[in-house]
Amino acid sequence: MTIIKNQSDLDDMRLACQGAAKVLDFITPYVQEGITTAELDKLCLEYITETLKAKSATIGYGNPPFPSSICTSINHQVCHGIPSNKKLKKGDILNIDVTIIKNGWFGDTSRMFYVGEVSILAKHLSMISYECMWKGIEKVKNGAYLGDIGHAIQQHAEKSGFSVVREFCGHGLGKNFHEEPQVLHYGTPKTQMKIFTGLLFTIEPMINAGKKEISHLNDGWTVITKDRSLSAQWEHAILVKDSGCEVLTISANMPKIPNFISSNKNITFSSLL
Ligand code: MF3
Ligand code: CO
Ligand code: CO
Repeated sequence: MTIIKNQSDLDDMRLACQGAAKVLDFITPYVQEGITTAELDKLCLEYITETLKAKSATIGYGNPPFPSSICTSINHQVCHGIPSNKKLKKGDILNIDVTIIKNGWFGDTSRMFYVGEVSILAKHLSMISYECMWKGIEKVKNGAYLGDIGHAIQQHAEKSGFSVVREFCGHGLGKNFHEEPQVLHYGTPKTQMKIFTGLLFTIEPMINAGKKEISHLNDGWTVITKDRSLSAQWEHAILVKDSGCEVLTISANMPKIPNFISSNKNITFSSLL
């Protein structure tokens, strides 16, 4: 676990998280019909190294070593999609997930993107997944339980007829990529760990339009829905505060925040560096 103890830790973590979010802002105009995800990856890596003077946390990560600076998960791909020479086509939805290391601190965030006009179902799934992430974030404060977060996310997803992927979770983040605690995106209120001021973690629900079960491609990374239904995911990194939380992975052009969040004084956003 990384716990923020002083202003200098907080400044470092804010910088790493805002850097990751800036990568997503930067790549947004390039996400168009005809570009390949390998080209998106190359552009992101250049931005991470040249502009941010940071490192990719994903290149070489895990076993087999992940090859790229972003995960690109298209349509029925749930997460950890490997950028390739396949071109994006109209109607695709994709998640781009980026994790950078800046001055030894990790920033991790992801968003959904549409390629041209996408189906009503795809938009609805992406929107509900976005709200699911925020419903989880809304529960975060000193003394709340991880189960409160999971429950809020699961309720919102299932109410819409969608399902929550069980095999992957949010995670502690800070001085390492994946730390304790594991932040499940389903659960029961007042169960699991009690969270406390200073704790850092991500919330990153993966929501399927069909059933919750997943399969793996034989590239060692890409996760897909077993029933080949669409899947969507959003991710923010947050800091637990006494009566709410601070959203760290923010940027100038981040997607609009839902109204139920903008009216909540307990959820704050780091000021842009
Ligand atoms: N960024 C992902 C997460 O949110 C992890 C990607 S690991 C990789 O935890 F190796 F697939 F890039
Ligand atoms: Co993450
Ligand atoms: Co991520």
